[in-house]
Amino acid sequence: MRLLVLVSGGGTNLQAIIDSVNRGDITNTEIVGVISNNYGVYSLERAEKAGIKNEVLSPKDFADRAAFNNAFVKKLDEYEPDLIVLAGFLVVIPEVVINKYEGKIINIHPSLIPSFCGTGYYGLKVHKAALERGVKVSGATVHFVDAGTDTGPIILQKAVYVQDGDTPETLQRRIMEEAEWKILPEAINLIANGKVVYTKTDDYSN
Ligand code: GRF
Repeated sequence: MRLLVLVSGGGTNLQAIIDSVNRGDITNTEIVGVISNNYGVYSLERAEKAGIKNEVLSPKDFADRAAFNNAFVKKLDEYEPDLIVLAGFLVVIPEVVINKYEGKIINIHPSLIPSFCGTGYYGLKVHKAALERGVKVSGATVHFVDAGTDTGPIILQKAVYVQDGDTPETLQRRIMEEAEWKILPEAINLIANGKVVYTKTDDYSN
Protein backbone atom coordinates (compact mmCIF):
# COMPACT_ATOMS: atom_id res chain seq x y z
CA MET A 1 0.00 0.00 0.00
CA ARG A 2 1.30 3.43 -0.98
CA LEU A 3 0.75 5.69 2.02
CA LEU A 4 0.82 9.48 1.84
CA VAL A 5 0.78 11.44 5.11
CA LEU A 6 -0.47 15.03 5.36
CA VAL A 7 0.68 17.12 8.31
CA SER A 8 0.60 20.66 9.69
CA GLY A 9 2.74 20.60 12.82
CA GLY A 10 5.00 18.61 15.10
CA GLY A 11 4.17 15.24 13.66
CA THR A 12 4.09 12.91 16.65
CA ASN A 13 1.41 10.90 14.88
CA LEU A 14 3.58 10.82 11.76
CA GLN A 15 6.42 9.51 13.95
CA ALA A 16 4.17 6.80 15.36
CA ILE A 17 3.38 5.70 11.79
CA ILE A 18 7.04 5.72 10.74
CA ASP A 19 8.04 3.71 13.83
CA SER A 20 5.23 1.22 13.30
CA VAL A 21 6.28 0.62 9.70
CA ASN A 22 9.91 0.18 10.77
CA ARG A 23 8.98 -2.21 13.59
CA GLY A 24 6.77 -4.23 11.27
CA ASP A 25 3.59 -3.41 13.18
CA ILE A 26 2.27 -1.94 9.95
CA THR A 27 2.81 -4.36 7.08
CA ASN A 28 2.36 -4.17 3.30
CA THR A 29 2.95 -0.44 3.47
CA GLU A 30 5.42 2.07 2.07
CA ILE A 31 5.27 5.71 3.18
CA VAL A 32 5.71 7.39 -0.20
CA GLY A 33 5.59 10.98 0.98
CA VAL A 34 4.82 13.61 3.59
CA ILE A 35 3.16 16.88 2.63
CA SER A 36 2.86 19.83 5.00
CA ASN A 37 0.80 22.97 4.48
CA ASN A 38 3.19 24.85 6.78
CA TYR A 39 6.86 25.64 6.28
CA GLY A 40 9.45 24.82 8.91
CA VAL A 41 7.43 22.34 10.95
CA TYR A 42 9.13 19.47 12.75
CA SER A 43 7.11 16.91 10.78
CA LEU A 44 9.27 17.66 7.73
CA GLU A 45 12.42 16.95 9.71
CA ARG A 46 10.98 13.67 10.95
CA ALA A 47 10.26 12.64 7.36
CA GLU A 48 13.71 13.74 6.23
CA LYS A 49 15.40 11.74 9.01
CA ALA A 50 13.41 8.68 7.97
CA GLY A 51 14.43 9.14 4.35
CA ILE A 52 10.89 9.91 3.21
CA LYS A 53 10.20 12.40 0.42
CA ASN A 54 8.69 15.53 1.94
CA GLU A 55 7.48 18.89 0.72
CA VAL A 56 5.35 21.92 1.50
CA LEU A 57 2.20 22.89 -0.32
CA SER A 58 0.94 26.09 1.28
CA PRO A 59 -2.31 27.88 0.47
CA LYS A 60 -0.36 31.09 1.05
CA ASP A 61 1.60 30.47 -2.13
CA PHE A 62 -1.53 30.57 -4.28
CA ALA A 63 -3.69 33.47 -5.46
CA ASP A 64 -6.87 31.95 -4.04
CA ARG A 65 -8.35 28.78 -2.56
CA ALA A 66 -9.46 27.46 -5.95
CA ALA A 67 -5.91 27.65 -7.28
CA PHE A 68 -4.60 25.90 -4.16
CA ASN A 69 -7.24 23.17 -4.36
CA ASN A 70 -6.34 22.56 -7.96
CA ALA A 71 -2.65 22.23 -7.12
CA PHE A 72 -3.54 20.09 -4.11
CA VAL A 73 -5.30 17.44 -6.19
CA LYS A 74 -2.47 17.40 -8.72
CA LYS A 75 0.08 16.98 -5.94
CA LEU A 76 -1.81 14.09 -4.35
CA ASP A 77 -2.13 12.41 -7.76
CA GLU A 78 1.64 12.59 -8.24
CA TYR A 79 2.15 10.22 -5.33
CA GLU A 80 -0.43 7.70 -6.60
CA PRO A 81 -1.51 6.99 -3.01
CA ASP A 82 -3.64 4.02 -1.99
CA LEU A 83 -4.28 5.71 1.35
CA ILE A 84 -3.97 9.32 2.49
CA VAL A 85 -3.62 9.89 6.23
CA LEU A 86 -4.43 13.24 7.79
CA ALA A 87 -2.09 13.24 10.78
CA GLY A 88 -2.87 16.57 12.40
CA PHE A 89 -3.56 18.22 9.03
CA LEU A 90 -5.47 21.42 9.61
CA VAL A 91 -6.51 22.31 6.07
CA VAL A 92 -10.12 21.60 5.12
CA ILE A 93 -10.07 18.93 2.45
CA PRO A 94 -11.72 20.36 -0.70
CA GLU A 95 -14.66 18.61 -2.27
CA VAL A 96 -12.70 17.87 -5.42
CA VAL A 97 -10.26 15.80 -3.32
CA ILE A 98 -13.05 14.03 -1.41
CA ASN A 99 -14.77 13.07 -4.63
CA LYS A 100 -11.60 11.66 -6.10
CA TYR A 101 -10.27 9.91 -3.00
CA GLU A 102 -13.41 9.00 -1.04
CA GLY A 103 -12.75 5.87 0.99
CA LYS A 104 -9.01 6.44 0.72
CA ILE A 105 -8.59 9.26 3.25
CA ILE A 106 -8.52 8.77 7.01
CA ASN A 107 -8.20 11.25 9.87
CA ILE A 108 -7.32 11.08 13.55
CA HIS A 109 -9.52 13.19 15.82
CA PRO A 110 -8.67 13.66 19.52
CA SER A 111 -12.06 12.87 21.04
CA LEU A 112 -14.65 10.12 21.00
CA ILE A 113 -16.75 11.15 18.00
CA PRO A 114 -19.59 12.29 18.05
CA SER A 115 -18.50 14.26 21.12
CA PHE A 116 -16.40 17.38 20.70
CA CYS A 117 -16.03 17.22 16.94
CA GLY A 118 -17.10 19.17 13.88
CA THR A 119 -16.34 22.72 12.83
CA GLY A 120 -14.12 24.60 15.27
CA TYR A 121 -13.08 21.53 17.25
CA TYR A 122 -9.39 21.11 16.62
CA GLY A 123 -6.21 21.04 18.68
CA LEU A 124 -6.50 22.16 22.29
CA LYS A 125 -10.06 23.44 21.74
CA VAL A 126 -11.29 19.84 21.73
CA HIS A 127 -9.76 19.10 25.13
CA LYS A 128 -10.84 22.44 26.60
CA ALA A 129 -14.43 21.68 25.59
CA ALA A 130 -14.25 18.18 27.07
CA LEU A 131 -12.95 19.51 30.39
CA GLU A 132 -15.55 22.29 30.48
CA ARG A 133 -18.32 19.73 29.97
CA GLY A 134 -16.85 17.68 32.78
CA VAL A 135 -16.64 14.36 30.96
CA LYS A 136 -14.79 11.61 32.81
CA VAL A 137 -13.73 9.79 29.66
CA SER A 138 -12.45 11.15 26.37
CA GLY A 139 -10.20 9.54 23.77
CA ALA A 140 -9.47 9.45 20.07
CA THR A 141 -11.16 8.35 16.87
CA VAL A 142 -9.82 7.26 13.49
CA HIS A 143 -12.40 7.74 10.76
CA PHE A 144 -12.74 7.94 7.02
CA VAL A 145 -13.04 11.45 5.66
CA ASP A 146 -16.19 12.41 3.81
CA ALA A 147 -17.69 15.73 2.78
CA GLY A 148 -18.63 16.69 6.34
CA THR A 149 -16.36 17.65 9.24
CA ASP A 150 -15.61 14.54 11.33
CA THR A 151 -18.73 12.81 9.95
CA GLY A 152 -17.21 9.89 8.02
CA PRO A 153 -17.39 6.22 9.01
CA ILE A 154 -15.53 5.39 12.23
CA ILE A 155 -12.73 2.82 12.00
CA LEU A 156 -11.29 2.68 15.53
CA GLN A 157 -11.78 4.46 18.83
CA LYS A 158 -9.95 4.30 22.13
CA ALA A 159 -11.10 5.74 25.44
CA VAL A 160 -8.83 7.60 27.84
CA TYR A 161 -9.75 8.62 31.39
CA VAL A 162 -9.80 12.26 32.37
CA GLN A 163 -7.89 12.82 35.61
CA ASP A 164 -8.45 15.30 38.41
CA GLY A 165 -6.51 18.47 37.73
CA ASP A 166 -6.21 17.84 34.00
CA THR A 167 -5.57 20.86 31.81
CA PRO A 168 -6.24 20.85 28.06
CA GLU A 169 -2.49 20.28 27.63
CA THR A 170 -2.19 17.29 29.98
CA LEU A 171 -5.33 15.69 28.58
CA GLN A 172 -4.10 16.24 25.01
CA ARG A 173 -0.79 14.58 25.83
CA ARG A 174 -2.39 11.56 27.54
CA ILE A 175 -4.82 11.05 24.66
CA MET A 176 -1.93 11.17 22.19
CA GLU A 177 0.19 8.68 24.16
CA GLU A 178 -2.57 6.26 25.13
CA ALA A 179 -4.82 6.47 22.10
CA GLU A 180 -3.74 8.38 18.99
CA TRP A 181 -0.27 6.87 18.58
CA LYS A 182 -1.81 3.40 18.89
CA ILE A 183 -5.04 3.46 16.92
CA LEU A 184 -3.77 5.46 13.95
CA PRO A 185 -1.05 2.91 13.05
CA GLU A 186 -3.47 0.10 13.87
CA ALA A 187 -6.09 1.48 11.47
CA ILE A 188 -3.48 1.86 8.73
CA ASN A 189 -2.40 -1.73 9.21
CA LEU A 190 -5.99 -2.96 9.04
CA ILE A 191 -6.57 -1.09 5.79
CA ALA A 192 -3.24 -2.21 4.32
CA ASN A 193 -4.26 -5.79 4.94
CA GLY A 194 -7.78 -5.52 3.56
CA LYS A 195 -9.48 -5.78 6.96
CA VAL A 196 -11.52 -2.62 6.64
CA VAL A 197 -13.99 -1.93 3.87
CA TYR A 198 -15.30 1.57 3.27
CA THR A 199 -19.03 1.98 3.02
CA LYS A 200 -20.77 5.32 3.06
CA THR A 201 -22.74 6.13 6.18
CA ASP A 202 -25.66 8.49 6.58
CA ASP A 203 -24.77 12.04 7.48
CA TYR A 204 -25.21 12.22 11.25
CA SER A 205 -24.27 15.87 11.42
CA ASN A 206 -27.83 17.21 11.01
C1 GRF B 1 -3.31 15.55 17.29
O1 GRF B 1 -3.90 15.85 18.51
C2 GRF B 1 -4.37 15.09 16.35
O2 GRF B 1 -5.37 14.34 16.94
C3 GRF B 1 -4.91 16.39 15.88
O3 GRF B 1 -3.78 17.23 15.74
C4 GRF B 1 -2.75 16.77 16.61
C5 GRF B 1 -1.53 16.51 15.78
O4 GRF B 1 -0.39 16.31 16.52
N1 GRF B 1 -5.73 16.21 14.71
P1 GRF B 1 0.95 15.82 15.81
O5 GRF B 1 1.33 16.86 14.75
O6 GRF B 1 0.71 14.47 15.20
O7 GRF B 1 1.97 15.78 16.90
